[in-house]
Amino acid sequence: MSRPIVYLTQEVHKDVIKLIRSRFTLRIIRKSGPRSMESLRSAARKADALVPMLQDRIDQTVLSAGKRLKIVANYAVGVNNIDLSAAKNAGIVVTNTPGVLTDATADLTMALILGLMRRLSDGERLARSGRWKGWGPTELLGLHVTGKTIGIIGMGRIGQAVAERMKGFRARILYWQRTRLSHEEEGRLLAEYVPIDRLLAKADIVTLHTPLTGNTHHLIGKKEISRMKRSAILVNTSRGPVVDEKALIEALAKRRIWGAGLDVYEEEPKIPLRLRRLPNVLLLPHLGSATEETRIAMGMLVFENLTAFFSGQEPLTRVV
Ligand code: DGY
Repeated sequence: MSRPIVYLTQEVHKDVIKLIRSRFTLRIIRKSGPRSMESLRSAARKADALVPMLQDRIDQTVLSAGKRLKIVANYAVGVNNIDLSAAKNAGIVVTNTPGVLTDATADLTMALILGLMRRLSDGERLARSGRWKGWGPTELLGLHVTGKTIGIIGMGRIGQAVAERMKGFRARILYWQRTRLSHEEEGRLLAEYVPIDRLLAKADIVTLHTPLTGNTHHLIGKKEISRMKRSAILVNTSRGPVVDEKALIEALAKRRIWGAGLDVYEEEPKIPLRLRRLPNVLLLPHLGSATEETRIAMGMLVFENLTAFFSGQEPLTRVV
């Protein structure tokens, strides 16, 4: 039997490429840079399996481009880039990469919290500039992190991993999501379940870990930001559209909140100029899962999902 044809939309880590090549016929749409919808459709026509990156929109037109496509193995945990109901209707299996990027994303969330509150990027810029005049009692004063109240919106794997880390900072941990955790889980995480409005009003750090769905689009907008403390920060390592970016920029410009640490944006890779010019933000280019170990682990999980599927078994992390 001939080997299934797997299309990667973009080149991934060489170890993963090697592994996929050992079992499948591998094709890559583009080494790097954006893929057009036409190139996605064209690949979908020829592929048994498609491995998209999180920015590739796998809509109805891609899913129905040909008769050959059987599985879309997303190289990401978030599946907001895929039309899941169209995939289900077409009988195309969709998998993602949960678990393997939890720690990397939680670590990066901590980096944003610490980096923003302790003004690391201002400090680093000053240190590099050659203009530093020496230690000053009022220079680059940030916010204390230890002992603060964190409000975690979305207490799935990544939210819980952030809670675990914040225990080390003796934080009070509030959380909100649609479904409450069990007593045991709350006890383990030392986390208190509160309504979202209360979380927004009480937290010094509001951090977002919810998937992007119809329900969470613009979950944080003008009204929600106006409930936050003026001294609070907002951190987003989930998906850009969970926050109304315009409302956030407005609030930051008016110092309605102290600052924002962002890894994700509404229209990646575009980051609005106004946002880039604000002094009270720490901005990263979607680095949540960007460690060598994590990106390899994501690729391994994609490979295992493909291998299971084409061996007639249930993929490990099937979404639909
Ligand atoms: C994901 O997998 O959804 C992450 O955002 C990747 O960094």
